[in-house]
Amino acid sequence: ELGAYSHFMQKEIYEQPKAVSDTAEIFLDAGFIAENFGENAEAVFNDIDSIKILACGTSYYAASTAKYWLESIAKIATDVEIASEYRYREVIANPKQLIITISQSGETLDTMEALKYAQAMGHKHSLSICNVMESALPRASELVVYTRAGAEIGVASTKAFTTQLVALFGLAVTLGRVRGYVDDTKLVEYTNALRSLPNDIQYALNLEPQISSWSSKFADKPSALFLGRGIHYPIALEGALKLKEITYIHAEAYPAGELKHGPLALVDENMPVVVIAPNDSLLDKVKANMQEVSARGGELFVFTDLDSDFSDSEGVHVIRTPRHIGVLSPIVHTIPVQLLSYHVALAKGTDVDKPRNLAKSVTVE
Ligand code: F6R
Repeated sequence: ELGAYSHFMQKEIYEQPKAVSDTAEIFLDAGFIAENFGENAEAVFNDIDSIKILACGTSYYAASTAKYWLESIAKIATDVEIASEYRYREVIANPKQLIITISQSGETLDTMEALKYAQAMGHKHSLSICNVMESALPRASELVVYTRAGAEIGVASTKAFTTQLVALFGLAVTLGRVRGYVDDTKLVEYTNALRSLPNDIQYALNLEPQISSWSSKFADKPSALFLGRGIHYPIALEGALKLKEITYIHAEAYPAGELKHGPLALVDENMPVVVIAPNDSLLDKVKANMQEVSARGGELFVFTDLDSDFSDSEGVHVIRTPRHIGVLSPIVHTIPVQLLSYHVALAKGTDVDKPRNLAKSVTVE
């Protein structure tokens, strides 16, 4: 089943152009229409005034990324919460708030219980984004859209995450249409972005030799810091989770602007700092944050775009993903952090597909 690959994680990373294009087909074939989410989705979408997304782990980071799209494209207030936290607090229910659950397996107990709790508290609209057909979460939800990642075997989620992002982007554009915020010009822009995404991901996959050459700089380190800003901050979080999960290196992610509020104290030559620095409107801010790291002797590993004006210098290593691709940039910038973790795990000799202490589907609390 592995074919030419050494691990399922590697295979699944490489399946992303196809997984993403299969999932994008939902919106490229039928258009960004409400019916992609269920028969009565149009009525539901017209009835809601806000969104709350509940999820765990990597799926929670997909939710955190989607918040930016939902608020900027569909102009709908969106809240994101860890399912295991939500289910145990007193919540203020809003029947006009759409509850979205995101789950690769569709069987994660905390996410399921969070949905039931929301429903019991009076939320009447729910949507599940799931990779496994007819699993518990879609069955309990009013609306559903399935990601088309195919079976994901590696415990560390890769193609499930990027396909969740595609489905969430599709939702943001669809809601933007329903709510009148996406005109025909924007629709063309979003459609084209989805069309070229598989190629943009392929470009990022081709960076593997460069990324693998960084692995020895991480393998002997006790910890690493990941920085990002804006919509790329959740990608930094996902990068840190992948690294700790499969290499057992302690990793944390911070929004780069928070550095001087504490984590800068950690920075020295033993703490590699990975920066997600696409050529977007926040780049100058990110560069200023990188200066703060360099000034403390920290070594920077920067993922940027081809068209940004970075160059390697003492203590600064740069790898370039394609030209800045705009709205779908967080999906493309996920690939390098997946590959980095994978190669650090190879360098350390850890069990990539079955990291210690972890299960693929978490059906217990
Ligand atoms: C990390 C990972 C986990 C899952 C989490 C939720 O690589 O795979 O963090 O994302 O356990 O699982 P699902 O999406 O099945 O609800």
